[in-house]
Amino acid sequence: MNMNPSETAFRLATPEDREQILSVHRDAFGEEGKIISSLVAEMFDDPTAEPIHSFVAEHGDAIVAHVLFTAVRIETREVSAQILAPLAVASKHQKSGLGTRLVNEALTQLEPQGVALVFVLGYPDYYSRFGFAPAGVQGFDTPYPILPKNADAWMVKELQPGAIESNEGTVRCCTALDQPQYWQE
Ligand SMILES: CC(C)(COP(=O)(O)OP(=O)(O)OC[C@H]1O[C@@H](n2cnc3c(N)ncnc32)[C@H](O)[C@@H]1OP(=O)(O)O)[C@@H](O)C(=O)NCCC(=O)NCCS
Repeated sequence: MNMNPSETAFRLATPEDREQILSVHRDAFGEEGKIISSLVAEMFDDPTAEPIHSFVAEHGDAIVAHVLFTAVRIETREVSAQILAPLAVASKHQKSGLGTRLVNEALTQLEPQGVALVFVLGYPDYYSRFGFAPAGVQGFDTPYPILPKNADAWMVKELQPGAIESNEGTVRCCTALDQPQYWQE
């Protein structure tokens, strides 16, 4: 079901959105839905994930897409950095441009908050549209080794000019994401 783009609102998530957000992830990720929605719940409750930035797309009263950004540390550096994970668009609304609009809105809001770098492990063809580029070759290592075939899926985007150039090192995620199984697919 496609919707009129003008009917979609993009906003920061509130605690009241929690159940609807978890349900979007359960739906969007199919077989993996339960695992991913549990991960999101854990990340929401993880103090090491702070500052968290959580954005939703809403159609009427229904949340139809969600993207979560949580804090990462780059070893030995003081830079403000986040990881985008996960992103989900409800199955009925996929491939209508909603994910693209939500991520663009979110990145626009993160920039003035002083976030310098955003990482993602995801589809290279999808995330390159937002300006993400392979992170490994630019000096940023994943918390756990990833399969060589997925090397291009580990990506970074700078929100402050020069942030990529002036940083390097291993990226450490919040406790909930710091599990080898999330890095091995
Ligand atoms: C992946 C996802 C977030 C994209 O959001 P969306 O609103 O459906 O996508 P958009 O309409 O913004 O963009 C469509 C583009 O995404 C691409 N795309 C969608 N799903 C994709 C996938 N699984 N792999 C690669 N590209 C994908 C489409 O090919 C399309 O490309 P085009 O613009 O060149 O035609 C959404 O489909 C989703 O929630 N999927 C299930 C959950 C998931 O896999 N999330 C992980 C993201 S890392």
